[in-house]
Amino acid sequence: MADAITITFGPLGSAGRGDLVVFVGDDLALGGAARDVLGSGGADLVARAASVEKFKGRSLSALVLPAPAGIEADRLVVVGLGSDKDRAKIDWPVLGGFTAGKVSGRTARVVLGANGAPVTAENAAEFALGARLRSYRFDRYKTKKKPDSDENGGTTLHLLLSEHEAAAQAAKAAEAVAEGVVIARDLINEPPNVLYPEEFARRASELTKLGVEVEVLEPARMRELGMGALLAVAQGSVREPRVVVMRWNGADSAETPVALIGKGVVFDSGGVSIKSAGGMEDMKGDMGGAAAVVGTLHALASRKAKVNVVGAIGIVENMPDGGSYRPSDIVTSMSGQTIEVINTDAEGRLVLADVIWHVQSAYKPRFIIDLATLTGAIIVALGQDIAGLFSNDDDLAARITAAGEATGEKVWRMPLAPSFDKAIDSKFADMKNTGGRHGGAATAASFIKRFVNDVPWAHLDIAGVGMSSNATEINRSWGAGWGVRLLDRLMREHYETK
Ligand code: BES
Ligand code: MN
Ligand code: ZN
Repeated sequence: MADAITITFGPLGSAGRGDLVVFVGDDLALGGAARDVLGSGGADLVARAASVEKFKGRSLSALVLPAPAGIEADRLVVVGLGSDKDRAKIDWPVLGGFTAGKVSGRTARVVLGANGAPVTAENAAEFALGARLRSYRFDRYKTKKKPDSDENGGTTLHLLLSEHEAAAQAAKAAEAVAEGVVIARDLINEPPNVLYPEEFARRASELTKLGVEVEVLEPARMRELGMGALLAVAQGSVREPRVVVMRWNGADSAETPVALIGKGVVFDSGGVSIKSAGGMEDMKGDMGGAAAVVGTLHALASRKAKVNVVGAIGIVENMPDGGSYRPSDIVTSMSGQTIEVINTDAEGRLVLADVIWHVQSAYKPRFIIDLATLTGAIIVALGQDIAGLFSNDDDLAARITAAGEATGEKVWRMPLAPSFDKAIDSKFADMKNTGGRHGGAATAASFIKRFVNDVPWAHLDIAGVGMSSNATEINRSWGAGWGVRLLDRLMREHYETK
């Protein structure tokens, strides 16, 4: 959706109407910049209002007042930053999201920096990123807008700080990332009658505008390549599958690319092993992994990241039909390995098997990260705020974990073990596509591992974080666009040449 927010950067002291936002710690003391704007009466006013309203300046709390006489503003919004300890580790995107939420639909000047704490250009850019993400809404299909909701007007934030020129510069990269997240959210929120595989591929192809090379594989080509596992999943749908390979070459052509691979099941009915009706509508989000890959490629290309990346997504619809694949079918994957289908609802791993094999053979990446809304079992294990990480490489796993901590897109490492691999041995074929109820996320990961050669690999099971997301300060949308910020961060920290 179009951004419902405009953000500018300017010097402290810029005048203007609308709301005025200032920050205080739990001592309620105004920083120098805020004191300059509010004058001598400001601190007294805030102290008196705080006592009436029992506002304690705690982190992520706010006090909203009519602006005092003599101040050119409509409302004064005082945002708490908490104790000294809280202020030492401010989460800037979250603070930006919280603040944007308080002035939603309005224009506000935001005096960044409280109690003389230096606010860096990077801090301000991250604040802007959070504000942008907070303002995202998916309302494309609402034909009636609520008449007096402030959600109708756009929000405008003027961020005021001394480092405003550097902040505006830093915010360009942050904006590229925000756009990537928004693209991912839009893809996840779209219904599958609109976003079927061909349409998904068309939207991914828009990355060519940013200099990304996009190749779309149609079924004939997939058959030539031998993608029997992916094609089996797709055969029950009237919508043809697509595989999209997106290449961003931001570094020297001699640099080995990294590979990002996403599960793109535009709708997962379960197929012949059909799911129960309750909650089946959520399965439009079963392409959250593919959405994250497209969003990340957008972010990297848009900020011209100096890294070579191959992004690849397998896009299919899993439907019951007279032509569907069925339990007991044996299919041959592109790797040559055969798979006995036990449950047609374990389709994501079949899609990933062929896309991973293709990318690995064609591009010889230095490592592979796949993202997939793969198992209900990972939701049972880790809930909706932490993704499961499986990896054959400790260094890659540690870097992903750190990028998760830094962005708030948290991951938790889960085990790969011979017992899980044994659980998917089949009586009739090389393997079967489910390993039973026990350790469901781990047997799924072990299945994927059978298609990964001797290359560092990490699998992110994002079934819990990829859809039906809990509301946070930076997300009010069903699809959070999980993974874009983590992957962007990972590239920036470790894989971009200077
Ligand atoms: N797309 C689902 C996993 C899922 C479940 C994602 C809930 C998001 C929310 C996946 O294709 C699936 O159906 N997995 C099965 C595997 C089982 C049949 C071995 C599952 O988890 O039940
Ligand atoms: Mn399924
Ligand atoms: Zn699925």
